[in-house]
Amino acid sequence: MDTFAFIIHPIDPKRDVSRKFPFLGRILNERQIDFFSTFFPPVYISEIEGITSQATGREIRGWFIACPYTPRRMMELPERMVYRKIIQTGRLAEKLGANILGLGAFTSVVGDAGITIAKALDVPVTTGDSFTVSMAVDAIRQAARVMEIPLDLATAAVVGATGAIGQVCTEMLADDVERLYLIGRREEALEELRDRLQPRARAELLVSTKMNVLAEAQLILTVTSAIHDVIRPEHLQPGSVVCDVARPRDVSAMVAAARDDILVIDGGMVDVPGPVNFHFNFGFPPGKAYACMAETIALALEGRFEDYTLGKHLTRERVQEIDEIAKRHGFRLSGFRSFEREVTPQQIETVRRNAIHSRKMRVAQM
Ligand SMILES: NC(=O)c1ccc[n+]([C@@H]2O[C@H](COP(=O)([O-])OP(=O)(O)OC[C@H]3O[C@@H](n4cnc5c(N)ncnc54)[C@H](OP(=O)(O)O)[C@@H]3O)[C@@H](O)[C@H]2O)c1
Repeated sequence: MDTFAFIIHPIDPKRDVSRKFPFLGRILNERQIDFFSTFFPPVYISEIEGITSQATGREIRGWFIACPYTPRRMMELPERMVYRKIIQTGRLAEKLGANILGLGAFTSVVGDAGITIAKALDVPVTTGDSFTVSMAVDAIRQAARVMEIPLDLATAAVVGATGAIGQVCTEMLADDVERLYLIGRREEALEELRDRLQPRARAELLVSTKMNVLAEAQLILTVTSAIHDVIRPEHLQPGSVVCDVARPRDVSAMVAAARDDILVIDGGMVDVPGPVNFHFNFGFPPGKAYACMAETIALALEGRFEDYTLGKHLTRERVQEIDEIAKRHGFRLSGFRSFEREVTPQQIETVRRNAIHSRKMRVAQM
């Protein structure tokens, strides 16, 4: 049977450590988990069974293994130390007999996005970022449809536009919308990206390092590597859609609490083909996975045991290819979820109604 392994790591330290070690999760605070994670070895989490290709009927087997570092730790520690721990975790995948290894969340963000890690390991490696792009763009297109926002007339924004995932999302959305804001921290890098994409783009591309331009956007795709939230309620216009692909999240939980006129959706949740059992609760309902996990699994189903998505410069061709492979084996964009809860059609209707009301109130106050 073909096999894969996928590296996860604690994102919300207390919650995620409690999922594997309830006692440690209870007694340690966030700072202590951060500190002790430096000395913790890689952890075997679970065996994954039941994934079956819709195209070939073939079943594969996999494993979750964990790199103990939190996002904060991965950003604070010297790069070579972080690489060392991820490579150690990769060796565990090799011992288990994995044919391909996926790098989850920050293990794919750190340094050169998998290149050094892949060089040090015998098992082929992928970050999963290509399929993450594909599912994020699909999600924003679908959300525009249900919110009745005409895509071709919309103003959109990509937050973290200069990032590995952000760049290709920007390139793809630039073909869809009328105006597109490229948002990040480094003006020069944003301008470079704009100058590269503008000649072939349908949209007018604008750059900004300020979040307040989000007030002009109806569709926002956010995918930064910030370790704290960057989008707050006051940044957003009524009726807008925010697709949050980042882990940890970019959208403050306050947005859900304070704004019932905005649709915030989690980017990158995918239905997995076959009666899958992950034997581990990573916060999703049964049968669903992150898009980056799905890329790793789809490559295993396809028998493509090679380094696939690596580095900070993804290509649209790879995004297209993995999209075709994954869909053929039965992966589908899952229904919308927001802050780990399902979004029902009634909720979408409520958001639309509230947005109309908020807009009227704003006009009345002018
Ligand atoms: N949902 C999924 O399935 C999935 C899969 C893979 C990855 N992810 C998540 O996607 C995110 C991005 O990954 P990546 O590989 O694209 O990372 P990346 O290449 O490091 O890019 C990160 C981007 O975020 C920007 N940024 C960082 N901190 C910021 C801040 N405080 N304010 C505004 N912009 C900021 C960076 O801007 P500068 O140019 O200024 O550095 C850069 O444009 C991570 O959270 C990762 O965990 C999710």
